[in-house]
Amino acid sequence: MATSRPLVIGNWKMNLDFVEAVHVGQQIGVMLKNRPAEHTDVVVAPPFVDLRSVTSIVQSERIAVSVGAQHVSAHENGAHTGEVSVSMLKRLGVEWVIVGHSERRTMYAMSDEVVGATLRAVLRGGLRAVLCVGEDLSVRDRDGHDDFVRDQLVSALRGLDEGFNELITVAYEPIWAIGTGLSASNEQVQHMMTHIREVLTGLSIEGCRVLYGGSVNAENAEGLLVAGGVDGFLVGGASLRAESFLAVVHASNDCYALKR
Ligand code: PGA
Repeated sequence: MATSRPLVIGNWKMNLDFVEAVHVGQQIGVMLKNRPAEHTDVVVAPPFVDLRSVTSIVQSERIAVSVGAQHVSAHENGAHTGEVSVSMLKRLGVEWVIVGHSERRTMYAMSDEVVGATLRAVLRGGLRAVLCVGEDLSVRDRDGHDDFVRDQLVSALRGLDEGFNELITVAYEPIWAIGTGLSASNEQVQHMMTHIREVLTGLSIEGCRVLYGGSVNAENAEGLLVAGGVDGFLVGGASLRAESFLAVVHASNDCYALKR
């Protein structure tokens, strides 16, 4: 297992309207009060329209969770119909932003260039960026995953001011493992964690947490942490219910507590 404090992020994607979001947020709050996860950083990333409600509950009920957005515009303001800016998120109390999720890259034509610009906008605004990288099955089948992920990392992170390093998290999410129930194996993940950390060192980015995402649940979390060497998880499907999300949080927390 990696040595840093685990980070578990729930990516709700386009699920849970604001009424449902309040409900799940409150459940997470109650459950974390009954059983704290003091060794783990926990983030939820609801849809934009839920952010205000979720940050309000987290603040008023002092829930040990930070709030993230799933996407943001690379632009500061102006004629960008349908977009939301970093400063708008900051005003809401959002601290994290997922950047370049594969669903944005493939379904909404988010190019490497736009991913890089978005990442810079997030960092300049002082928010924490979770840069998502990962190959699809055709790339994996031709054994191109290492090069593919390296290129994505270099394209997004090259030339960044070192002062931003502490705001960066990387999430390795192989597209073939997202929402399929078929997680990457511990060996595949371990190999990629080593590779990503080497690429980051080459880019002079030290101390950055590297997460895994793709069909993570309470059953596979421990193996991925211990044998896969991840620093935590980006969780989709299992984050939509408080019980299954906190099961991943507690699995991470217990692993880290035992390791110390
Ligand atoms: P999943 O999604 O856990 O449902 O596979 C992960 C993600 O896309 O972040």
